[in-house]
Amino acid sequence: MKYGYFDDANREYVITNPRTPVKWINYVGTLAFGGFVDHTGGALICKGDPALNRITKYIPQLPDSDFKGSTLYLRFRQGNGYKVFSPYFVPTLDPYDLYECHVGLGYTRIVSEFYGIRTEVTIFVPMGDSRLISDIKITNVSDQPMEIDVIPVVEYTHPDALKQFTNADWIPQTMQSEVYEDEGGMKILVQYPFMYRETRINYFTSNYAVSSFESDRERFLGGSEYGTWANPLGLQEPELSNYEALRGDNIAALLHHLGEIQPGETKRVIAQLGQEESVEKALPLVRKYRDEENVDRAFRDLARFWDDYLSKLQVETPDPDMNRMLNIHNPRQCYITKNWSRYLSLYQLGLGARGMGFRDSAQDVMAIVSHIPDEGRELIKKLLHIQKRDGSAMHQFNPLTMVADEGDSREIEGAPRYYGDDHLWIALAVTAYLKETREIAFLDEVIPYYEKDKEGIPIEWGTVYDHMERAIEFTRHDLGRHGLPLLGFADWNDTVNLKAGAESLFVANLYGKALLEIIELARHLRETESVERYSAYYAEMKERVNEHAWDGEWYVRYFDADGTPLGSRSNTEGQIYANGQSWPVISGFATPERATRALDSVYQKLNTRKGIKLSAPAYNGFDPNKGGITTYPPGAKENGGIFLHANPWVIIAETIVGRGDRAFEYYSQINPAAKNDRIDEFECEPYVYPQNILGDEHPQFGLARNSWLTGTASWIYQAATQHILGIMPTYEGLQINPCIPANWDGFRVTRVFRSAVYQIEVKNPDHVCKGVKAVKVDGKKITGNIVPILGDGKTYRVEVIMGGEVQER
Ligand code: NOJ
Repeated sequence: MKYGYFDDANREYVITNPRTPVKWINYVGTLAFGGFVDHTGGALICKGDPALNRITKYIPQLPDSDFKGSTLYLRFRQGNGYKVFSPYFVPTLDPYDLYECHVGLGYTRIVSEFYGIRTEVTIFVPMGDSRLISDIKITNVSDQPMEIDVIPVVEYTHPDALKQFTNADWIPQTMQSEVYEDEGGMKILVQYPFMYRETRINYFTSNYAVSSFESDRERFLGGSEYGTWANPLGLQEPELSNYEALRGDNIAALLHHLGEIQPGETKRVIAQLGQEESVEKALPLVRKYRDEENVDRAFRDLARFWDDYLSKLQVETPDPDMNRMLNIHNPRQCYITKNWSRYLSLYQLGLGARGMGFRDSAQDVMAIVSHIPDEGRELIKKLLHIQKRDGSAMHQFNPLTMVADEGDSREIEGAPRYYGDDHLWIALAVTAYLKETREIAFLDEVIPYYEKDKEGIPIEWGTVYDHMERAIEFTRHDLGRHGLPLLGFADWNDTVNLKAGAESLFVANLYGKALLEIIELARHLRETESVERYSAYYAEMKERVNEHAWDGEWYVRYFDADGTPLGSRSNTEGQIYANGQSWPVISGFATPERATRALDSVYQKLNTRKGIKLSAPAYNGFDPNKGGITTYPPGAKENGGIFLHANPWVIIAETIVGRGDRAFEYYSQINPAAKNDRIDEFECEPYVYPQNILGDEHPQFGLARNSWLTGTASWIYQAATQHILGIMPTYEGLQINPCIPANWDGFRVTRVFRSAVYQIEVKNPDHVCKGVKAVKVDGKKITGNIVPILGDGKTYRVEVIMGGEVQER
C-alpha cells in the first residue's frame, strides 16, 4: 500500500490518500512563530515556546478523524439546509473526487475536489513573520453556477499548554474573545486570556467581507455541544451568532459568502492567524497580508530561502532514494530539528516536561553549519549559556526563559543530577562550526556559565574555548573504579540508569572524539602545549578502554557500580550494544583488528534488514537497577529496538574501516524514501527519519514511531555526505575521501564551502570502496585530497579519481 509519491522537481511529497496509518505532518515557520500542520489541515501553532505560548489546541491523542486545532468548512444550499463539508477531508469525512496534500518546504498545500468544488489551500508562515496564512482558492469545476460559503475555523488553547489540561476551572473563566470591525466589512476576531488582554492577543482575520462570526465552541457545534465537528449545527443556520465569548472554549470562525461562482471561475480568501501585543500593533501587517500580491511575494520569498538553503549541497548518486533524501528531505529535517530540538511534534508534545535538549541541539547544529552557519553559532551560544562552571551541562532548557533543568534525572530520588555525555557534545558542535566557517574569533567570545547569584546575574563567564576546556576537564576528573568516565544519570542512552558509580564506555569514547577535535583545533592554532596535554589525555583513556572494555569479540558498554560489565557475553540480556562498537571506532580508541571485529559483531548480532538494533538480546521485565530501558517490552525503543539515531554511527565507523558496501547497505535499509511503496508496516512519513522502529524481538517488527525530531536527521546527513560521499570540511579546506559501494561508477556533488562553489565529480574506474588516487581542481592536479580554500565566490571544477591504496584517516 502506498499513500503518495515523491515529486522531486517541486521538492514535495504528495499524499494522495488521506487515510494514512498515522497523521503525517509538516512544519511551518520556526520556533519564533510556527508549528506543524497535519495532512488533513489540523494545526498546532505556537509563538516562541510551545509550553508557555501555545495558540491552537491540537490534541494528538484524539482519533485521526477528529478536528485538531484548525479546519476549513465549505457549504452550499441543499434542500432547506446546507451541505457542509471540509475540503481537508477531516472532520467531515465526505467522499472526495480528488485529494492531494503537497508536503512542501515550509508549506502544506491541500488540493481537493468535492461536489464539483475544487479547493486549493496553501498554508505557510511568511519568513520571519508571526502569522499563519491559509491562502484559499475555490474553483467551480462543475458545469453549473454555485453559491459557496467559506468558513475557516481555529480552536484556541490557553497559552500555558499544560494548564489547559490540568485546570478546567481557571482556564475557561479567563478565555475571552471580541470582534474588531475593520474597513470593507472585514473583521478581526481577537482572543486572549483575560490576563493578557493588554499585552498579548491572538487574532484571526481574512481579506474578505465577513458576514458573521463565532467565537464560542458550544454555539458553533450547537445542541449543548452534542453537535459535532463533523456536523456543526451552527453551520446549518444562515449566519453564525456573532457572539463575543466571555468565557469557555474559544474558537474563531469567519463566515464568508463568496456569492455565485461561475463554472471555471476561482475566488480567493486569505485567512491569517497571528499574535501581537494589540490589534493596533497587528493592523499594518494584517493589512499588508490582505493583499494577494504580498502573499504571493511572501510565498516566493519562502521558496527563495529554501533554494538558497538547499543549494549548499546537492548530490547526484546512482541511488535515486539517496538523492531525494540528500537534496531535499534530509537537510530539511535537519533544519526542523535545529529549530524545534525535541520540543514539538506528534510525539513530543511541548507541554514543558522537555525543552531544547543540550546534547540534542549540539548534535543538530552539526548538520546545519554548512547551510546556515549564523543560526548554528547562535544556537551553540545558547547551549553554552546552560553549561555549568564545573564543565558539565544542564540537560535541557526553555528557549523563552532560558531556564534550564536536569531532565529526567530529577525523577529518581538520589540519582546523579547530570548526564555523563551532555557537555562533551559541545566540543563537536563548536569545531564543526569552526571547520565550516574558519571563524576562529568565535573561540574568544565570552559567555556566562549557568549559575546565577540572587539577582539572577551570572557568577562566572568564560570564553567559548574555556567552556570547551572545562567540558573536557569535567570528564577527565569524573572517573570510576576502572578510571573510565562515570555515567551520571545516563549517557546518550537516556534509559540505562545505573546506580551512582557506574562507568560509561560511551562517555569514554565521546571524550576521545572530543579530544581528537580539540587536538586538531589546537594544532591548527599552533598551540603546542595544548596539543601535547590533550594528546596525553587521549592516550591515557585509549589505554584504559582497551585494557578494561574489550570483551573478546566486542567492547562492553557499561560497568555498574560494583564493576560488573553490561553489554558483555557474560550477560544473558543486553549482551551487545551498537554504540559500544561504533564509538570506539569513531574515537579512534579501537585498534584496527578490534575495530573490524567489533563491527562484524554488530553485523552478526544487531543488524536486521530494517536497521541496526541498539542492543540485543532485549531485557524482558522491569528491573529498577537498570532503569528506563526495562520499562519497554523487548524490541521497543532503546530495549532492542532499531533506534535510528545510532545507525549512522555504525555507518561512519564502517567508512572509517573502509567498507563502503556495508556502509551503504546500512544507509539504504533505513532510508524512509525507499519504503514508500510498502509503507503500511512502517506507518510514519516516508519523507523523514523516525526516531525508532520496532526491532525483530517485537511482534510488530518494522513499525516506526516518533518521526521528525530525532538526532537521526543530523547524523545520517553527516554520515552520508561527509563519510559515504566523503565531502568533509577541515580547517585546511574541503577533504574528499569517499567510501562508497564498489559497484558505483562515481557520483557528483555541488558543495558551497566558504563562499566558493565546488562542482565535484568523483570517478571510480577501479571499482574500489575507498581511496583517492588523484584530485584535479579546474584541470590542475593537487597534492593530497584536500581541496584548498578558494573562498572567492567563484565556481571550481573538482575531478576526483578513486582507486589505488585505501587511505586511512
Ligand atoms: C531521545 C533523546 O532526545 C536523546 O537525547 C537520547 O540520546 C535518545 N533518546 C536515546 O536515549
